[in-house]
Amino acid sequence: VGTILFLLSSICNKQGGFDVKRYSLNTILPQAGHFVDGVTGAITPPIHPSTTFARGNDYEPIGGYIYSRYQNPTYDQVEYLAAELDNGAESRLFSSGMAAITAVFETVNMGQHIVAPTIMYHGAQDWLRRIAKKRNIGLTLFDATDPKAMRKAIKPGKTAILVD
Ligand SMILES: Cc1ncc(COP(=O)(O)O)c(C=O)c1O
Repeated sequence: VGTILFLLSSICNKQGGFDVKRYSLNTILPQAGHFVDGVTGAITPPIHPSTTFARGNDYEPIGGYIYSRYQNPTYDQVEYLAAELDNGAESRLFSSGMAAITAVFETVNMGQHIVAPTIMYHGAQDWLRRIAKKRNIGLTLFDATDPKAMRKAIKPGKTAILVD
């Protein structure tokens, strides 16, 4: 998985990324690594394991990065690629599936509502049920085999849709 992520990350550099609207996935993926890193000349981008990044005398980060829990150049590349491949505006990379689901759930406030399919990862559904009850958040599970079921479950203006 690490290798795949590394290869994927190498095709999504913001300076040298592929135009995913012009090329198919089958073309983009084998081309991984075909751009030159402007700093080192490497043909695949370096991986950045650093947690902390330097600040200048004015205490401003000298390279735009502060701490890897917030942002890291390697994660940026993966997030950029995932968004591009999905034709999305942005994406976020998490260290586990439950971390991603928890982060989405944290955007939902008390009194609001969340809908999710009846058939989903059991650990996530079990967690959703318990946390929704504890935080007074509405939870409706819909039958994802019925195209109209999700629409019916949504409460206008109050609903987050979780698709795992
Ligand atoms: C569909 C799905 N969602 C979420 C998870 C939870 O992911 P993690 O174990 O990385 O927290 C899993 C784990 O198998 C999963 O299969």
